[in-house]
Amino acid sequence: MQIKIFDTTLRDGEQSPGFSMNLAEKVEMAIQLEKLGVDVMEAGFAIASSGDFKSITEIGKSVKNTTVASLARAVPKDIDMAVEALQYAKYPRIHTFIATSDIHMKYKLRKSEDEVLETAREMVKYAKKFCEDVEFSAEDASRTRPEFLYKVLEEVIKAGATVVNIPDTVGYTTPQEFFNLIYGIRTNVVGADKVDISVHCHNDLGMAVANSLSAVRAGATQVECTVNGIGERAGNAALEEIVMNICTRSDLYPFPTKVNTQEIYRTSKLLTKITGIRVQPNKAIVGENAFAHEAGIHQHGVLENKETYEIMTPEAIGITENQLVLGKHSGRHAFVDRVESLGFTIDEKNLDEVFLAFKELADKKKVVSDRDIEALIHVQRVQTPEIYKLERFVINAGNTITTTSSVRLHYKDEIIESVKASHDGAIDASYKAIDELVDKKFELEDFVISSVTGGTDAQGEVRVRIKDENNKVYNGYGVNLDIVEASILAYINAINAMLSNEG
Ligand code: KIV
Ligand code: ZN
Repeated sequence: MQIKIFDTTLRDGEQSPGFSMNLAEKVEMAIQLEKLGVDVMEAGFAIASSGDFKSITEIGKSVKNTTVASLARAVPKDIDMAVEALQYAKYPRIHTFIATSDIHMKYKLRKSEDEVLETAREMVKYAKKFCEDVEFSAEDASRTRPEFLYKVLEEVIKAGATVVNIPDTVGYTTPQEFFNLIYGIRTNVVGADKVDISVHCHNDLGMAVANSLSAVRAGATQVECTVNGIGERAGNAALEEIVMNICTRSDLYPFPTKVNTQEIYRTSKLLTKITGIRVQPNKAIVGENAFAHEAGIHQHGVLENKETYEIMTPEAIGITENQLVLGKHSGRHAFVDRVESLGFTIDEKNLDEVFLAFKELADKKKVVSDRDIEALIHVQRVQTPEIYKLERFVINAGNTITTTSSVRLHYKDEIIESVKASHDGAIDASYKAIDELVDKKFELEDFVISSVTGGTDAQGEVRVRIKDENNKVYNGYGVNLDIVEASILAYINAINAMLSNEG
């Protein structure tokens, strides 16, 4: 038996504050998730917004072998939207849900048990008319009266559900309790052996992964999770932790997954790059320190025999030590080799652009690392039509004067320029200058600056989020050795995304 991995990074993960992604970013993430080898990706909640609808549609067109799911409440209009959004998916799945716990039925739904039972059954039947693959979730299942949960699951299985999902919506359960619940479902629900039993755990008490794994031991056949554990509140079960537990402790979980673990690190990094939100350094599996052995006694042991302190290898999740250093003398061939070994496929035209950017960087920086190359590729991937383009900027700054920035942009065959002063430094002055040049109102929502690698010659990467007058959010990304330039490029990238979206 195999455990199926259902990734909900693009739905439960993306809907949490700070993690919103634009269409291109979601598609890029979806393509990487397919490379990672997840069985199902939940691409969004079709009725929630036009952005969600569009991303489900585009992801449906872009992925080839992975099931694409859309969430839908147990109401016909939600299901209709999900069906429409999934029209291009080769393997579509409708994921419909309704709450089954007393507290949710009384205060949120204002429905009786009988009404909820009837709705669940009828909506699965309805979804089944359009789609063979229908997943039903009993929201807040872990706080639901077990006998009622059994009844609901039995009815939806009879109505045609192919997967029944048992969410620990509020992250309340414990491993033993959840084991008993899943075991109870397997033994008490007629038809449970004919469908996938899925679990979906939130991390409010830090137990999401432990609870999911306990459920696997009790017979769950699908685990819902997100890359880096992102998600509502404290997040969802982390995909990389679930998969590496199953791999590393195959004595306890003798059920492989289809995930190519060597894509884990890249997938985690891509999400960080897209959202600008890094994982904590001590995060299991993908944190910066996850494989670092600092203590002398550990280092000695690891040098003698890796297994003294290492239960899995960095290579297993795709962290590679590239011996060959790339610099200004590296040719296109070596560069293409490295790009490929990093797992990227880029067409010729885009490769030309990235190679040019690499050469420019290598002229200024002795050693160009893999992280630098990933950043350059990311810049190229988030390119939007360059409605505004940076021509140059000049900063006049010091600790005894007011900073001024003069920014010159290309716009519709014209050169436009503005000069602004700020007590808050060069980036603030530059953003004020750009605001004056752009003929549209918007607000800066978020600004994150970080370094791509260590060292004083590291490139700075900047991610900004802006909001237009209709509260629509756009992301921008910029990378440069100069952090002011990276900041300006990220801002212009977000503005161009906003303007081309209006297009
Ligand atoms: O946490 C939850 O209950 C959910 C469901 C919609 C599956 O996300
Ligand atoms: Zn959830």
